[in-house]
Amino acid sequence: MQTLNDIRSTFLSYFDKQGHAVVPSSPLVPRNDPTLMFVNSGMVQFKNLFTGVETRDYKRATTAQKCVRAGGKHNDLDNVGYTARHHTFFEMLGNFSFGDYFKDDAIPFAWNLITGEFGIPKERLYVTVYHTDDEAFDIWKKVGVPEERIIRIATSDNFWQMGPTGPCGPCTEIFYDHGDHIWGGPPGSPEEDGDRFIEIWNIVFMQNEQFEDGSMIDLEMQSIDTGMGLERIGALLQGSHDNYDTDLFKSLIEASAHATGVDPYGDQNVHHRVIADHLRSTSFLMADGVMPSNDGRGYVLRRIMRRAMRHAHLLGAKDPLMHRLVPALVQKMGAAYPELGQAQSMIEQTLLQEETRFRQTLDRGLKLLDEELARLPEEADLPGDAAFKLYDTYGFPLDLTQDALREKGRSVDTDGFDAAMAEQKAKARAAWSGSGEAADATIWFDVADKHGTTDFLGYDTEVAEGQIVALVQDGAEIASADPGQNVQIALNQTPFYAESGGQVGDTGVIRTASGVAEVSDTRKSAGVFIHIATVTEGSITTGDAAVLDVDHSRRTAIRANHSATHLLHEALREALGDHVAQRGSLNAEDRLRFDFSHTQALNLDELAKVEADVNSYIRQNAAVETRIMTPDDARALGAQALFGEKYGDEVRVVSMGRKDGSGKGSDGNTYSLELCGGTHVRQTGDIGAFVTLGDSASSAGVRRIEALTGAAALSYLRAQDHRLAEVALDLKAQAADVPERVRSLMEERRNLSNEVAQLRRELAMAGGGGTDAPEAKDVGGIAFIAQVLTGVTGKDLPALVDQFKEKLGSGAVLLVADSDGKAAVAAGVTTDLTDRASAVDIVKAAVAELGGKGGGGRPDMAQGGAKDAQNAKAAIAAAEKVLKG
Ligand code: ALA
Repeated sequence: MQTLNDIRSTFLSYFDKQGHAVVPSSPLVPRNDPTLMFVNSGMVQFKNLFTGVETRDYKRATTAQKCVRAGGKHNDLDNVGYTARHHTFFEMLGNFSFGDYFKDDAIPFAWNLITGEFGIPKERLYVTVYHTDDEAFDIWKKVGVPEERIIRIATSDNFWQMGPTGPCGPCTEIFYDHGDHIWGGPPGSPEEDGDRFIEIWNIVFMQNEQFEDGSMIDLEMQSIDTGMGLERIGALLQGSHDNYDTDLFKSLIEASAHATGVDPYGDQNVHHRVIADHLRSTSFLMADGVMPSNDGRGYVLRRIMRRAMRHAHLLGAKDPLMHRLVPALVQKMGAAYPELGQAQSMIEQTLLQEETRFRQTLDRGLKLLDEELARLPEEADLPGDAAFKLYDTYGFPLDLTQDALREKGRSVDTDGFDAAMAEQKAKARAAWSGSGEAADATIWFDVADKHGTTDFLGYDTEVAEGQIVALVQDGAEIASADPGQNVQIALNQTPFYAESGGQVGDTGVIRTASGVAEVSDTRKSAGVFIHIATVTEGSITTGDAAVLDVDHSRRTAIRANHSATHLLHEALREALGDHVAQRGSLNAEDRLRFDFSHTQALNLDELAKVEADVNSYIRQNAAVETRIMTPDDARALGAQALFGEKYGDEVRVVSMGRKDGSGKGSDGNTYSLELCGGTHVRQTGDIGAFVTLGDSASSAGVRRIEALTGAAALSYLRAQDHRLAEVALDLKAQAADVPERVRSLMEERRNLSNEVAQLRRELAMAGGGGTDAPEAKDVGGIAFIAQVLTGVTGKDLPALVDQFKEKLGSGAVLLVADSDGKAAVAAGVTTDLTDRASAVDIVKAAVAELGGKGGGGRPDMAQGGAKDAQNAKAAIAAAEKVLKG
């Protein structure tokens, strides 16, 4: 038996041999199509190659493309599981020519593959061509299809268009006849809707382009786009007409049966089928970055999930089921799509959380549904407000309610549901307009009502296409904007991050076919992302498709700062304690700022530790992981949340860093775990480096740390280096002056002390330093001055003695200097009296009284030292005795 994996490989290698590049599937979220919710066929990633807008280095390609068809109308999901071929997720095999080969080759390529490699009997095959396409008719005849099996079809069935606009062209389709045991007729017949004749391959001759105004042109290039559903061809080659009978689906159905204990192929089979299909779409969507949410793509994902979860409930599953089936899917499809294996644990955790949570309201919701039905007459529709209550209170998407009613042969009043939804929105708007916010803001409710909220693509990409849904100026919608005009632009989807959670809004460029606008900031209101822009070229018009290009290097710096803030938060908690809680933050392109509760300034050691910790987690280069969960689950995991902040039904939890240093691992080891809607680096190493600019007080009990990362951190350190070098140079220049300055200081000191000595002498002479006025008295006929001086030293005495002698003309002097705990004595006798009394005798007599010894000099001038001046009176008396002879 050829498995689906074999068939995929056979297809790709067949076209590889025919010179086609084997191109990987693009992600399910289209990067290049603003109007498409999910990639729904193989040609989407090549759209611009058909119109010639883009060229690549190949002209032939082949792919197995992941496709999801589940968006749009309410009841798209309704059939899946109940029929043989409806899926939310499927793989489309295709071969493509971009202006290379055309009909002449495309038809034989297809014919040879299915009748040769796949060995499908020719007599079971029919083909259709567009009614005017004689060329295709003739080529089919030439490859050997009998004329009666080539059916001309005049309807749009044989003219393929990817959407209301874009490349298109007539097509030819190959049908397989499953045999007359199944009801149905060939294409174009009244019984064509039966299951007997099944289309297996569509070959489109891309030769036209359709425009919005209804006009259609011939493209310069003639190209080929083909699509064959892998599940269908797989069923056929495995001998069935039911896609769920293939090896891949059987293994998923059996995994579901094994996990629930319910017979895979009994009367509960439909539940297993729903689960198997939805397991594929939900897992692949999450692997491509879509997360369950309440609007946009995330809501489509949630609707599919919840439908599967209700069917798990119908199977009697007591515990969450879906996450247990992921390994079976990865085992079957992980080799062809490695992204599935890489995201496996995230997918399992998200499914588990979603299912745990949904089961909390499922029983009560189903009970309410039964009560409502019991109250209604047989066969009456469920009123819209009841369906709305199920949606609003119990998380039942409308199609889940429809699915539940389907088994009972009942339906929902969808108009009533829409009316109840509109009423709730009106209430939200009324609450908003009463809240005192700018009146301008109500315009965004109008925009949200008319066009829906904006789908944010910027976690995964920084360039994407979007469609301009509204242009707003001064609170009113305008049709278009011209150069120089400031305008607020709303789009159906955008990669531009709108300011929130401390992260600044993105800037960048919006380009349409007719104009360019520079985006200087992005905000959001009522779920609408508002691109604040100025038109710089041409004009921008509502309804235009636009290429949205975020300023990449700015965003890269913002990501690094935001992730570093998370690491900083945790490092502060570890260094200072669990009381550290975030009080505010700014994540801009040039720096980050983090305010936190803490009462004291950080000392240098604490700052150094925090900085070293953050840098060590940067070097760990651990993957940054994001998950969606309820706020309660997040807190239970230990995630840091802003106190008092209101969170919605679900939150993003961003985790990074491993405490065990492994760089990967389990929750117990996670370093930083925070609720956060911002954009982050992929690996902590992308932050590059982290330096703090220091800590300051922000308000009472709140400290603020500012820091830099990456290139900004490096240039800051470099600048610090330059500053230090300048300080060093300055110090060196000052050091060279030091000897000269010392010399001049010493000279200054010398001058000053001379001055002081002079002043002291003058003071003593004036009697300022003495105990008595220097009056002479007559001692034995000799005029005698005796004086005790403070504030002068022994060195000052001889000069003073001379001055006193001069003052006396004829007489004797005794001076005692009392300074610093010791005494100095000096005596003088004018020469006319030295024969009567000697200065030496006077000094000796005085010194002896003052507890000293000796003394000496000449008869007219002598000096001596003593212990202190305590006995000055006795000393003076002793001197007088000498004078008296
Ligand atoms: N693009 C074509 C289809 O989807 C082949 O059927």
